[in-house]
Amino acid sequence: MASQTAKTILEEMTIQEKIGQLIQLSGDFFQNGTAAITGPLKEHHLSLETIYTAGSVLGISGAERVRQVQTDFLKHSRLKIPLLFMADVVHGYQTIFPIPLALGATFDPQTMHDTAAVAAKESAAGGVHVTFAPMVDLVRDPRWGRVMESTGEDPYLNSVMAKAAVNGFQGKLPLDANHIAACVKHFAAYGAPEAGREYNTVDISEWRFREQYLPAYAAAIEAESLLVMTSFNTLFGIPATANQKLMRDILRQELDFKGVLISDWDAIGETIAHGVAGNLEAAADLSLKAGVDIDMMSFAYAKYLEKAANLDEHTKLLIDEAVVRILDLKVALGLFEDPYRGLSVEREATTILSSDNLHVAEQAAEKSMVLLKNESVLPLATDAKVALVGPGAHTGDLLGSWSWQGDPQKTSSIYDEFKSRFKSVEYAKGCGFHALNYQELDQAVMIGRDSDVIVAVVGLPSSETGEATSLTQLTLPTEQLTLLKQLAALNKPLITVVLTGRPLDLTAVAAVSSAIVLAWYPGSRGAAALTNILTGEVNPSGKLPMSFPRHVGQVPIYYNHYNTGRPISQTADDDENKYLSKYVDAKSEPLYPFGYGLSYADLAVEQLKVLNPIVNDSQNLQVEVTITNHSTISATTVMQVYSHQLVGQTVRPVKELKYFERLSLAPLETRDILVTLPLTTFRSMQSNLQWQVEDGDYTVMVGLDSDNVLQQPFEIRANNKRGQE
Ligand code: NOJ
Repeated sequence: MASQTAKTILEEMTIQEKIGQLIQLSGDFFQNGTAAITGPLKEHHLSLETIYTAGSVLGISGAERVRQVQTDFLKHSRLKIPLLFMADVVHGYQTIFPIPLALGATFDPQTMHDTAAVAAKESAAGGVHVTFAPMVDLVRDPRWGRVMESTGEDPYLNSVMAKAAVNGFQGKLPLDANHIAACVKHFAAYGAPEAGREYNTVDISEWRFREQYLPAYAAAIEAESLLVMTSFNTLFGIPATANQKLMRDILRQELDFKGVLISDWDAIGETIAHGVAGNLEAAADLSLKAGVDIDMMSFAYAKYLEKAANLDEHTKLLIDEAVVRILDLKVALGLFEDPYRGLSVEREATTILSSDNLHVAEQAAEKSMVLLKNESVLPLATDAKVALVGPGAHTGDLLGSWSWQGDPQKTSSIYDEFKSRFKSVEYAKGCGFHALNYQELDQAVMIGRDSDVIVAVVGLPSSETGEATSLTQLTLPTEQLTLLKQLAALNKPLITVVLTGRPLDLTAVAAVSSAIVLAWYPGSRGAAALTNILTGEVNPSGKLPMSFPRHVGQVPIYYNHYNTGRPISQTADDDENKYLSKYVDAKSEPLYPFGYGLSYADLAVEQLKVLNPIVNDSQNLQVEVTITNHSTISATTVMQVYSHQLVGQTVRPVKELKYFERLSLAPLETRDILVTLPLTTFRSMQSNLQWQVEDGDYTVMVGLDSDNVLQQPFEIRANNKRGQE
């Protein structure tokens, strides 16, 4: 419902001022605090007058700069409508947290919430009003560089994390000055580009879209994300940004989204290249009709200025609706009361990079790291003689993509942290991320020979993650594999730490390493967190939010796949029967499954009891799980509850995550955990595109990863009535 403020202002606005609100400009249009049109910006034929009617700007931050731009802007704005400042605050502002995929690995919504809250507080102090986050695209193809921005391959995990992120950024509505508006993206299904190639076509059935891809966006919208961003890709044959069915019918009507819909960068203009609009005017018409409120940098909506006097009534009505939504966002941010939201250089200085914030970053990084292999070589004694090698060992490049305000120069490297923790550390680079020279290699081998243990930090540079970084190879670059093989030949414990923003094919790495720690891009305090893990000060607890393939040829590979008509059974029969759904040159299962991650403690799910094996209409499924820590050290792990419906109206995934919980167990503790799952948990998408809980036979499974589970049958007898929402 439109606020009174928005309605009153709308009445006073000229059509030009209204169109201005729909235009988002990049920060280049504001130089030295005032509007400027220089260099290539001239191509867009905007007047200074239009710039001073623009509704929003992206990429400007810093208390002083924002204050200056806003002051100058308001001086020129006839109706004194404040400018909105938006930016990509994806996993931290200046305090950088682990990348979102790593935050997914925490399986801890509280951590997601807390990191988003700190990011909001810091960026609000830096003048940001809206963040283009969270990105909640379901991802199953690690060739796509943007998997790093997502929380992975599971609809339930993504939904829980989406909600936590929105709540962290926005706090409890109405927004206060320490929170910012969230913009969930990229609506929709941007995470499924064909062949993992950036910006490529997405073509999935509506049934699958609704069952697996839509829930995380829906969760973010239910958590009241104030904005949504359109995606670059096509869906159902039409670019998302011009897709009326997607935006009007699904987003606005079904999901009841009332906030601001913004295009991705130039996505309105790109409908021309997609071939559904003949020119920028047509692109604008299609997108406005689809309900896109803000045009980020395609200047298509600016075209309405040229024919402002002759716009038809319907277009004017659509413009009014969009303007009201944008003004309402400004009202929600309190900009009409204080266009600066309490901005000051002092507040910025005390808020940003505070020790509390850095502490949140360190803890998040600790929770996100995944122990993939350990032949009893970890944890390390601090008096061990350590040889530290590898291209990632002595660099501040631990922040990952989308950390534009983070400073790798000021980020301590793993070597820096090791020096303060281990009695004896020798460092040699060994090789570059993609370069090898024999002098460096020899030096690494030399210090390795003279050590008790070798820690090799390998992976991909952070420039190879994020937007526009699709890859066809998922193995470690050959130069780094050469280094690892040379080190392995020394027959010392070889601990491999992997920096990556995507699942890699670690088959060759696992073959030569005694232990593998997946560190992702762990952020500002990542090096300290890793050191805490390696020394055993912190017991690893992260779990994989995406399956790690054995080979790029298996991609897309994900745990919640369907059975097929000829499933493999993981028995000897699989080898004998050629006509099964499998590869002839490789195994079908991943190297490391979804939910996988080891601990230094010996933890086991001992028992799974179904308390009500026949669940009727009015009941929830109740199970009791017994988990034991068989070790004399305390540990944290993630209990994962999956289910499978044996017979459905539509085909059912072999497993679906239904619930998870991080648990801390004292030494030798045995714990019984009661899990209650509402009946709607078991809903499935029917062929008529409606959710339904179906009567029938199900299996419930519990494990500390998706592969190794205990299972029990149960039945639902609820007369097929429940679950429709
Ligand atoms: C393009 C990206 O796809 C989107 O995620 C981002 O928010 C915008 N650029 C703005 O930087």
